[in-house]
Amino acid sequence: MLGPIHQLLYMSKASPSLTQSDIQAILASARKFNSDHAVTGLLIFRDGRFLQLFEGRTEAVKETYERITHDKRHGQIIVIQETFVERRLFARWSMAYGEELVAPDAAAKLFSNLDRAMRSETLDQQVIMSILEHFAKHAQS
Ligand SMILES: Cc1cc2nc3c(=O)[nH]c(=O)nc-3n(C[C@H](O)[C@H](O)[C@H](O)COP(=O)(O)O)c2cc1C
Repeated sequence: MLGPIHQLLYMSKASPSLTQSDIQAILASARKFNSDHAVTGLLIFRDGRFLQLFEGRTEAVKETYERITHDKRHGQIIVIQETFVERRLFARWSMAYGEELVAPDAAAKLFSNLDRAMRSETLDQQVIMSILEHFAKHAQS
């Protein structure tokens, strides 16, 4: 049976002019909005690509995703998985950021597995979700 939490996972290409301070600005506005709307999730930025997982009530997730699709700081969005789950994976984070989230001893292996999965043509949703589960498991904060 499907659970009550709407979960959406997408990947996109960052605009070439994007800087680290843009990412901080994205995180700041994302965290503010998401905490007001009970949206949680994880944002990853690797090699010019974003990977983002949203979790929450359907209306909040859909509204947030819709808004983000119009954001000029990225494009070529591909939805990798959209499903309903029993429990949030990132319940403690209004929007976790991969680089800040995981403990340094776990980071190298997690990012190398994730880089491979993000580059793969098949974008295997089960592989990517299982890596994200490891990110949640190895969270340091
Ligand atoms: C990769 C990426 C991820 C984002 N994630 C979120 C998010 O989780 N929640 C959110 O409210 N806005 C997020 N944003 C920002 C929105 O696109 C938007 O700029 C922001 O919500 C402010 O909306 P407004 O410009 O319509 O006021 C993200 C933007 C980008 C490029």
